[in-house]
Amino acid sequence: MNTEILSLSSRDFEEDALIPASEAIRRGGLVVFPTETVYGIGADATNPEAVAGIFRAKGRPQDNPLIIHIAAPEDAEKYTYTSELYYKIAEAFMPGPITVIMRSRDVIPPETRAGLETVAVRCPEHPVARALIRLSGCPIAAPSANLSGSPSPTCVKHVIEDMKGRCEYIIDGGDCDFGLESTIVKIDDDGALTLLRPGKITVSDLSMLGVPVRVAHAVTDRLSDGEVALSPGMKYRHYAPRAEVLLLDGEVDRALAYVSDYAADRKAVIAYTEDVSEFREKLDGVAVYDFGLRADLEAQAHSLFAILREADKENFDVIFAPLPSEEGIGLALYNRMIRAAAHKIIRL
Ligand code: TXA
Ligand code: MG
Repeated sequence: MNTEILSLSSRDFEEDALIPASEAIRRGGLVVFPTETVYGIGADATNPEAVAGIFRAKGRPQDNPLIIHIAAPEDAEKYTYTSELYYKIAEAFMPGPITVIMRSRDVIPPETRAGLETVAVRCPEHPVARALIRLSGCPIAAPSANLSGSPSPTCVKHVIEDMKGRCEYIIDGGDCDFGLESTIVKIDDDGALTLLRPGKITVSDLSMLGVPVRVAHAVTDRLSDGEVALSPGMKYRHYAPRAEVLLLDGEVDRALAYVSDYAADRKAVIAYTEDVSEFREKLDGVAVYDFGLRADLEAQAHSLFAILREADKENFDVIFAPLPSEEGIGLALYNRMIRAAAHKIIRL
């Protein structure tokens, strides 16, 4: 398939430029577009054949449901059974990096929601994403625009690596602002929220809504054998580089000693900016990636997937990374990193 790459690197763009891509969506085609979290690969969420194309392009397991993207929060009314709590969430955080799971209406076919009774809805903040949805005249089902199993793409270079030749258009909107996928919450029957995937909207942001917020245990823990995940995506080893990833929990000097003594030919370290030069000086022949300042969680969120992707090309045997805290945005980093590491944490 010939993929056309459309450059709209500025947020200040002519909407008309998106018309051909929106026509591709209407015809049942696939279009990659930028959002404020990561790039998504989209299709008409109401068209089962179009949605099947997304699963093929990504090599995604059929039992992993998609998020439908809408141009305005009230459009959720057409596709789901909303509630007062939904509108509170919308008022507080939409458009923005949050996805809400509610009971689906029949217009959303089972293919989009992998046969579940519920559907995930998100109104992105990125103006290109919202303009594309508006012009297409349908909700756009879109998972992250990576091949299944590799890190979500946060810049167009990564999208091209994975999706060129697999979709009709790639819309280049420059680097994604946040760099980790949206926060996912489920509205439960008892009027509480369950956090299924942490993101930029944190547990403390959610608790301002005045309803109980539970954190699904798969956010931080490994699922036990045979346990059914609240969110099907939780059971896959996402964001997994080919190398073994080990998370180091402890002081820098201990980390240095541990990495230095570790028996492997090709080693890499993801280090906080403050520690980069020390790691480079003291660890000969070990690649060191700058993760951002220790206190700058936004910078770390922005760079994590790009670092994992770059590191993956180098065929390292092992990649060491610091164990993030579980506070605030740290929980989103923690959740992605323990999965990349298949839960291997070294207590130094
Ligand atoms: O930031 C984002 O959310 C990005 C951009 C493109 O919007 N999208 C994204 O989609 O991360 P995806 O497909 O990579 O991740 C969606 C997650 C999956 O883990 C899936 O299992 C879960 O949401 N999910 C979707 N529908 C669900 C449902 N009805 N119930 C429970 N989990 C659901
Ligand atoms: Mg994904």
